[in-house]
Amino acid sequence: MAESKANTNASEILTTGQWIKQQDDLPRLDCELTLCYILGVNRASVLACPERPLSADQLIETNRWADSLRNDVPFAYLAGEQEFWGLKLAVSRNVLVPRPETELLVECALTLIKSGTNILDLGTGSGAIALAIASERPDIKVTGSDISIDALLVAKKNSMSLDIDVTLKQSSWFESLTGHWQIIVSNPPYIDPGDPHLKHLHAEPQQALIADEQGVADLRKIIAEAPNYLKNKGWLLLEHGFDQAQQVRLLLEQSGFQAVGSHRDLANIERVTLGQYIYE
Ligand SMILES: C[S@@+](CC[C@H](N)C(=O)[O-])C[C@H]1O[C@@H](n2cnc3c(N)ncnc32)[C@H](O)[C@@H]1O
Repeated sequence: MAESKANTNASEILTTGQWIKQQDDLPRLDCELTLCYILGVNRASVLACPERPLSADQLIETNRWADSLRNDVPFAYLAGEQEFWGLKLAVSRNVLVPRPETELLVECALTLIKSGTNILDLGTGSGAIALAIASERPDIKVTGSDISIDALLVAKKNSMSLDIDVTLKQSSWFESLTGHWQIIVSNPPYIDPGDPHLKHLHAEPQQALIADEQGVADLRKIIAEAPNYLKNKGWLLLEHGFDQAQQVRLLLEQSGFQAVGSHRDLANIERVTLGQYIYE
């Protein structure tokens, strides 16, 4: 546990500006946003009024958030929400916090959609990818599946609060799914169990992060089984780790996919690899 820098003496009056200065080991933006949530004000107000006093209760709560941030709890879990593709998604510790780089997978899928296309999002978690696609294309049928019933409850909550229609199913990859899709997308777990970065990701569900075989076990399984669930000329699009593109391209080619290629994210990293399956 990271040692608290927070002043826990609730009887001392602190202003918001003084509180931010005390948290000099945390990103300033996280501190400002913490104050926004606890005080129920917007960021402009936090910036404009650094002399606003914190009540004893507010000080206890802001210090609790600061300590959680020091211990690698994502801000999104404290706030209970995360923006993805312009949608405000509810998140809990049962789902991975949707990452900005995953928007590339949404972008790539959207370019392949034609009218009448149906899409499957494997390992939907909070529903981020499925809901983003369905928000852009309300005319197509989007299904999201996950092994975790707790994650599916979060996805359902998001579908209802955003009033975006997606079908949700519990399944371990394709095991309990029937049907054929024009596009299958997935951001599966792809982190090597021995990756040292995992210690900073301890708050997120490990089932959403870690895969055997240096992180490629789930990618391999999805690639091997997807041809049985794709329509003729259907596409499989996969997010993967920064160093896995070449291996994923090879796995797709070995499974008979054509037009295999990778797309780079904003950090210029090959992040999404796709292929088309054409029946013989
Ligand atoms: C990296 S997270 C992606 C979550 C969400 N799609 C996103 O991009 O934010 C991987 C998801 O795959 C799910 N998952 C892990 N193993 C699975 C399996 N065997 N079958 C189906 N889903 C699985 C996890 O529960 C988790 O929600």
